[in-house]
Amino acid sequence: MPQHHKLLSLALAATVALTPHAFTQQPKPDVPPALYLGAAWYPEQWPESRWDADLALMEQAHIRFVRITEFAWSTMEPTEGNFEWTWLDHAIDAAAKHHIAVVLGTPSATPPAWLTQKYPETLRFESDGKQDEHGNRQQGSFVSPKYRELCRDIAERMAKRYGHNPNVIGWQLDNEISAEDYGPAAKAACQDWVHAHYKTLDNLNTRWTTAYWSEAYTDWSQIPIQEKYGNPGLLLSWKRFVSDTWRAYDLNQIQVIRPNVDKRQWITTNTMGWFDGYDHYTVEQDLDLAAWDDYVGRGHLDPYSNGFAHDLTRGFLRKNFWVMETQPGFVNWSANNTALDKGEVRAMAWHDIGHGADAVEYWQWRSALNGQEELHGTLVGSDGTPVPLYSEVAQLGAEFAKAGPALAGTSPHSQVAILHSYDSRWAVNWQRHNQNFDPIQQILSYYKPLRQLAQSIDIIQQTAPLDSYKLVVAPGLAVLTGEGAKNLIAYVQNGGHLVLGQRAAMKDDDNSLQANRAPGPLATLLGGRVEQFYAIDDEKTTPEATVPVEGKWGDTTSKIWAEQLSVTAPDTEVLMRYGKSNGWLDGQPAAITRKVGKGRITYIGAWMDDATLLNAAKWMTETSSVTAAFGPIPEGVDVYPREGQGKKIFILVNFAKTPQTITLPSTMHSILEDKDLSTLSLDRYGVAILQAR
Ligand code: GAL
Repeated sequence: MPQHHKLLSLALAATVALTPHAFTQQPKPDVPPALYLGAAWYPEQWPESRWDADLALMEQAHIRFVRITEFAWSTMEPTEGNFEWTWLDHAIDAAAKHHIAVVLGTPSATPPAWLTQKYPETLRFESDGKQDEHGNRQQGSFVSPKYRELCRDIAERMAKRYGHNPNVIGWQLDNEISAEDYGPAAKAACQDWVHAHYKTLDNLNTRWTTAYWSEAYTDWSQIPIQEKYGNPGLLLSWKRFVSDTWRAYDLNQIQVIRPNVDKRQWITTNTMGWFDGYDHYTVEQDLDLAAWDDYVGRGHLDPYSNGFAHDLTRGFLRKNFWVMETQPGFVNWSANNTALDKGEVRAMAWHDIGHGADAVEYWQWRSALNGQEELHGTLVGSDGTPVPLYSEVAQLGAEFAKAGPALAGTSPHSQVAILHSYDSRWAVNWQRHNQNFDPIQQILSYYKPLRQLAQSIDIIQQTAPLDSYKLVVAPGLAVLTGEGAKNLIAYVQNGGHLVLGQRAAMKDDDNSLQANRAPGPLATLLGGRVEQFYAIDDEKTTPEATVPVEGKWGDTTSKIWAEQLSVTAPDTEVLMRYGKSNGWLDGQPAAITRKVGKGRITYIGAWMDDATLLNAAKWMTETSSVTAAFGPIPEGVDVYPREGQGKKIFILVNFAKTPQTITLPSTMHSILEDKDLSTLSLDRYGVAILQAR
């Protein structure tokens, strides 16, 4: 029997053995589901005769969309100017027959070999000066005009052909854009960017303080590319150039897709959670939908760190988003590719939905028989039959179908916002001052207690509208832009409570130190400022380095960092003070607050432990009248509120190691069980979807 026929019959035999829930709730054609379950499918890797078996298995698992073609350039254009669309027409039609919609990826992450051979100028340079070559992916240069032309051409042809196809619902640009070019063309483009931004060399030299180390520039072409140890103004400019260049790279394709496709077809690109290679607020602004690839890698889901990445992605366009890729159990790129536990994949998917995802897509459906990622987790094995995880995903699909109508038109709404800034993360990482000052850990140290208390947090940038928030916390806002400062001052003056964390507003728009000391333009409002900052050594290495802190939030020590604060206004209150430590900090203010009309501004200069930060967060929420979205919940159980269209839904997931019992704040309807409840028991990884009456 030819190999693919053998696989087909194995697959069909396997469908018979599926669990019964996989066959409930068959989708109605042409009604887009509120919650989309999807898989990354690569029809170009398999004979057409196999597709129907795959799609049948997908349909039985309630998979309602596939993302295809993001790596299929060499199949769509096998040689220059010769296009093969028939296979793709067939693949999209075959999916439609199974009520499976299609997201088309533009293939610019994987240029074909003929392209690289004929147009070597399209290849990017690594930061060590080596030019990339064919054989992996992302070898195209983001500045190359020829590469842009070729990407635009294939994107335009795809848009013209499929822009009105009723089964195509959206477009993914490229795939995880991230590989910059450091070659001569990128350097020249960056110099042009700097010129356009700073206009004159005098202005540039002043703002970067280039008298320092004889860095003064007399010609734009003298400006280097630096990534780590350069002038802080130059480093930030490079990152902003990279961000604007990725935006232009995406726009190059958006401009030919949008005019050629139905309005209902959206455009997105898939990002990578905490990845900070460019400013996502810059790049995302032209997209219709934010989407990210959510991988745990080794170990288990950390609901806080992962939850932050969801909230961050939701904040790019300040609306629900898609999980465009996630791991079916395990990956292949980690040091130890451990599998998520039985039940954890389903729990993770509901955690995604709870944070505002409207779709979860598994990467990938089935592994190619060869290629770099042979060992990655899939839903179907190399023989074409389901792997053990398939039935868990099928159960999830049935649940998406069941809970979808209740969740339609709902999204997370928060009383608390945390400000996130790429400029600030870069600025701190370039000059940590204490190697342990990790901006991600800093922001998470505030996110965790605030999420526990408010049960829903928005993550947004400093210039976003703030009116709807009772509390805005900026744990890691080292770089405060002019526009950001205006926004924050107006927020406090209009009655909001702004909390600044350590190192806030230390730097300005050029990554220069604030001339009037931190928190720069907010110091007057605060009635206080940072007199001096101190890196604190690890207690294990230097026990005498311990810096005690005590006051309103309890007694603790400040680790990693401690700022000596001063009070400059009579009504600024000291909340926490340092105890005896290095002499400089002894008895000095560590956290201060000031009421400004109906608003309030608070500054925290110490890096406190989790228990003290939880007390601080309690104080922040109480002072700002922030209420828990749901109410008391056992530790380890996550609750995610989504509301809209007059509905209030709570998704509960038990990540604790043991079963938990939850007393509901009022009688609620359990959507999955179809009954009213006032208490609820959840096993480990148990999930409940509750609708408030
Ligand atoms: C993603 C990528 C996919 C696949 C996956 C494996 O980052 O977008 O194409 O490589 O990782 O985990």
